[in-house]
Amino acid sequence: MRIGVLGGTGPAGRGLAARLAAAGHDVVLGSRDPDRAVAAAEALGAAWPGHALAVRGTGNAEAAEAELVVLATPWEAAAATVRDCVDRLDGTPLLCMANALTRTDGEFQPLVPPRGSVAAGVQAAVPAARVVAGCHHLPAKDLADLDHALDVDVLLASDHDHAKEAVADVLAGIDGLRPLDAGSLSSAAAIEAFTAVILQLNARYKTRASLKITGL
Ligand SMILES: NC(=O)c1ccc[n+]([C@@H]2O[C@H](COP(=O)([O-])OP(=O)(O)OC[C@H]3O[C@@H](n4cnc5c(N)ncnc54)[C@H](OP(=O)(O)O)[C@@H]3O)[C@@H](O)[C@H]2O)c1
Repeated sequence: MRIGVLGGTGPAGRGLAARLAAAGHDVVLGSRDPDRAVAAAEALGAAWPGHALAVRGTGNAEAAEAELVVLATPWEAAAATVRDCVDRLDGTPLLCMANALTRTDGEFQPLVPPRGSVAAGVQAAVPAARVVAGCHHLPAKDLADLDHALDVDVLLASDHDHAKEAVADVLAGIDGLRPLDAGSLSSAAAIEAFTAVILQLNARYKTRASLKITGL
């Protein structure tokens, strides 16, 4: 599948891109500056020569011309970035991994963005897109290290069942990653906010924690 990553030059986008490309997808990193995306894609390929990753770089709008689009910008830029690509996103599953967080007195705190979650704000900004909230809790460093064995759950929330299934199918192709259906987009508020708790655990226990649900 051709997968575009908006904001793909950052650690989160690059990390997920590495895993998606290692799973056999054709991945296009997007950036506001196409040269930066080209350099990031080359660096990714050079870091993992044995995997022959199919990754290239371009501008965000061109990256959005894909069967699945990942949104990996800071939360404040999420809706505007997607709005700039609106012509290319009609009906496209759009995986939004942005978290609205701040750090106050050394503690991570969730922010409440307009409409309750970043993903809901993006969905409202671009109604034609099929927003799926997910991948919020995955540590970018572990994603980017293809030698690191993952053992994590990813909670997915969306008002578009087919888009959620499409994203789940793609994520299930990544070794050690279990996508879970967490319901409608209204769940995105709790999922995004919980990232602050995970980052707090990371700081407290000096680790890179992630999420694993038991009992399923
Ligand atoms: N880091 C993690 O471990 C992790 C894990 C899960 C989810 N997330 C979430 O994923 C998102 C990306 O995380 P990150 O750590 O990769 O963030 P980041 O490095 O701050 O930003 C990612 C990319 O977004 C683009 N960007 C920055 N400011 C922008 C703006 N004002 N307008 C448009 N594009 C802008 C930049 O690319 P260009 O300058 O090349 O355009 C940047 O490389 C965040 O919302 C974060 O909460 C992060």
